[in-house]
Amino acid sequence: MPTTLTARRTIAERFAESFPNSQRLYSRATGLFPNGVTHDLRYLQPFPVYVERAEGSKKWDVDGHELVDWWSGHGSIMLGHSHPDVVEAVQHQMGRMTHPGACHELELEWGDAIRRLKPSVEKMRFVNSGTEATLMALRLAHMFTGKPKVLKFQGHFHGWHDFLIQAADPPYDTAVPGLDPVMLANLVVVPPNDLNVVEQTLIRDKQIACVILEPTGGHYGSVPMRGEFLRGLREITARHNVLLIFDEVITGFRVAPGGAQGYYKIQPDLTTMAKIVAGGLPGGCLGGRTDVLELLEFSNQPNRKMPHPGTFNANPLSAAAGIKTLGIVASGEPNRRANATAASFRAKLNELFVAEGVPWIAFGDFSGIKILTDYTGPRPAGRDDSPDGGFIPFGGEFAKLDAKPDARLKTAFRQALLLHGVDWPGLACMANAAHSEEDVERTVDAVRETIGLVREERLC
Ligand SMILES: Cc1ncc(COP(=O)(O)O)c(C=O)c1O
Repeated sequence: MPTTLTARRTIAERFAESFPNSQRLYSRATGLFPNGVTHDLRYLQPFPVYVERAEGSKKWDVDGHELVDWWSGHGSIMLGHSHPDVVEAVQHQMGRMTHPGACHELELEWGDAIRRLKPSVEKMRFVNSGTEATLMALRLAHMFTGKPKVLKFQGHFHGWHDFLIQAADPPYDTAVPGLDPVMLANLVVVPPNDLNVVEQTLIRDKQIACVILEPTGGHYGSVPMRGEFLRGLREITARHNVLLIFDEVITGFRVAPGGAQGYYKIQPDLTTMAKIVAGGLPGGCLGGRTDVLELLEFSNQPNRKMPHPGTFNANPLSAAAGIKTLGIVASGEPNRRANATAASFRAKLNELFVAEGVPWIAFGDFSGIKILTDYTGPRPAGRDDSPDGGFIPFGGEFAKLDAKPDARLKTAFRQALLLHGVDWPGLACMANAAHSEEDVERTVDAVRETIGLVREERLC
C-alpha cells in the first residue's frame, strides 16, 4: 500500500483547531472593535482566546481549556483572581450602592489604607485609571512650578494620553501617530539610568517642571532601574527644584506593600497609582505633597484651582475591592510570595534554556519575568532570591534590552503556550501571590514543548 506523507500541522493550524469557540467569537468582534480587540496587548492572530472565568492563578476559556494565567490582570491582580475576601467585599457593596452621587465612608477607608502604606502620600485624589493619574500629575506639576515641560525616560510607559505616550516604545524619536507636534515641544526624553544626562538636562533646560518614571524601569523593569539611580534622581531633582513623580501604577503595592518608594525608602513628590490600588477593579489615584495637592482646592485667587470632576472617582465597588486588597497586601506576604515565585520561575527557565541549547534568557526584578530570545552572553549562576539584585543581560545595555522581539516568534510562542495550557502575554509576564510552584513547573514544561514547536518552524 502506498504510504501518504502528511505534513505536520503548524502551530497556527493547531491553534486554530483547538479554540473553535474563541474563533467564532472573534469573527463577531472584528465587526465591532478595531482589530477585534479592546486593548492592543490582547491582539493575537489569527484570533485571541476568550476567557469566561478566572480563579486563583488559573482561567478557563470558552472552549473549556484550563490555562495557567501569567497576565495577572495587566498587573492589577496581586492576590490571584476572585480572591474570596475581595469577592465578598464587592458583592456586599454591590447590594448597598454602586454610585451614591455623594461622598461616602469607604473613600475615607480607602484613602487611609493607601496613606498607611505610602507615607509620601499626604493628600490624594481618586481617578479611574493610570492614564488619568499621570495626566493629573503633569497638570499639577505645571501649575505648581509654573513651568511647561516634563522629562521622561525612553521606554517608560505612563498611559496613552498626549503628554506621555511618546517614546514609550522604540523608535523613540518617531512621533506617535495622531499626536499634535505641539505636545512634543514640552516633552524632554532621555535614556534611562544615566544620572549625569538627567542633571545636565535640568541645568540646560530651566523650563522642566517634573521628572516622571517607572521606578523599577520601563515596562515593569524591561530595562531595570535600581536603588542607586533612584536615590541619585531624588537628590538631583530636589537640588534643581523639579518635582519627582513616581509612576507606581504597576509597582505600587506589587514590589512591596509600599511599592518601589517603600522598598527603596525614597519620598517622591507625587505618586501615580492604579491597578492593584483598586483590587483588580477600575480605579486610580494621584497622591503626594499637600502643597501640590492643594491646587485642587477651591481658592479665592483667580486661576489657582485645577478643575477635577470625574463621574466614577472613588467608586464604592472599586473602593471595597481596594480596601480589602490593600489590607491583605499590608502584611507583605503576598509580595514575598510573588517575588519568590518569579525568582524560581526565572531560574527554572534559564536551566531549561541551557538544556535545550537555545539563545534565550529569563531575567527580571521582583515579580517580573522577561524573556529575550537572542542572547549569547554570560548567564546567571543560579537562582537569585534578592528581589532586585539579579542578573541583567547585555550588561544592562539599553538598546538591546528594549529591542522589540521578532513578531513571528512572539506570536508562535503565545499560540504554542496556549496549546499547552498557559496564557502568557508576549515575552514578559508577572507572578502574583496565587501562583504555586506547580504552576511554575507546568509552565516550564509548556515552554519546553513550545521550544520544540518553534524550532520545527525554524523560528529559533
Ligand atoms: C507604569 C504605568 N503607568 C500608567 C499606565 C496606564 O494605566 P491604565 O492602563 O490604567 O490607564 C500603565 C498601564 O499599564 C502603566 O504600566
